[in-house]
Amino acid sequence: MLRLLITRPIAEPVLAQARRLFDVTLHTGGKLSEAECAAALAEYDCILPTLGDQFTARAFAGDLRCRMIGNFGVGYNHIDTDAAARAGVIVSNTPDVLTDATADIAMTLLLATARRAGEGERMVRSGRWGGFDVKGLLGTHVTGKTLGIVGMGRIGQAIAARGYHGFNMKVVFHNRSPKVTRVPALQLESLHHVMAEADFVVVATPGGTATTKLIDAAAIAAMKPSGIFVNISRGEVVDETALIDALEQGRIAGAGLDVYENEPHVPERLRALENCVLLPHLGSATQETRQAMAQMALDNIIAFSEGRDPPQRVT
Ligand code: GLV
Ligand code: GLV
Repeated sequence: MLRLLITRPIAEPVLAQARRLFDVTLHTGGKLSEAECAAALAEYDCILPTLGDQFTARAFAGDLRCRMIGNFGVGYNHIDTDAAARAGVIVSNTPDVLTDATADIAMTLLLATARRAGEGERMVRSGRWGGFDVKGLLGTHVTGKTLGIVGMGRIGQAIAARGYHGFNMKVVFHNRSPKVTRVPALQLESLHHVMAEADFVVVATPGGTATTKLIDAAAIAAMKPSGIFVNISRGEVVDETALIDALEQGRIAGAGLDVYENEPHVPERLRALENCVLLPHLGSATQETRQAMAQMALDNIIAFSEGRDPPQRVT
């Protein structure tokens, strides 16, 4: 039996299936450090890790027993895939199954930020609400506005569809390569044009070195003062300090964030801002989606163990 390390307590039925097929070790001690990843790569044939585990180039530098990493999650910026490929380790991820859940969280953040739902909720809970107020907590109208999407992949497309069908929005987007979209959407010349034209900017790019600080101070400065910024991809895509500066100075109207540069650290300056809705990386967090992600990660490992090519292979 192949030795499989699962680094978090995944959905029970999937774990049970894994135990029938592999010699499973379930790690319940939280994120794996670089040293723990190196040790795991030396000790197990296959690993089912997730975000937070540090599979850096140094983790791959030692003696390796591992040949297959079936990542739980679509994003794999916590795995140095170049180092994995050089070491002959296959890496797979879990696309598609989390597209709708993640697009839903983007809309949750867009609506909650536009309609000041976080502020309102805090007001009600604290007993400070004085009743229906014709001028109280007035937000930004969403229906019919312009939605700007940065990164028109699977999740970007699903957000575009929600904006277009659900909210009659005009959709513009930025993408590295030309994209055919499922709903009418205009690919603009540059990121700057999208930032400038959109009432709502939603970042849906992958993380990693190619997109690190893609949204920098200049990009944020291009936004309308009434603009609202949403990030559901990876914190590293945004210059967090530049974003906080813009929010503090009222150069943009608000932000809805599901991801942060140094999770779980969320800067005190950001937490102090009323015009932000801050979620704890909930993009894929539905029962159904998390089970489907676990199943997909395991299915890739099973494919590898049976000598087949893992269907969601990324290296
Ligand atoms: C979650 O952020 C994922 O990458 O699946
Ligand atoms: C608002 O609650 C209204 O009745 O217009």
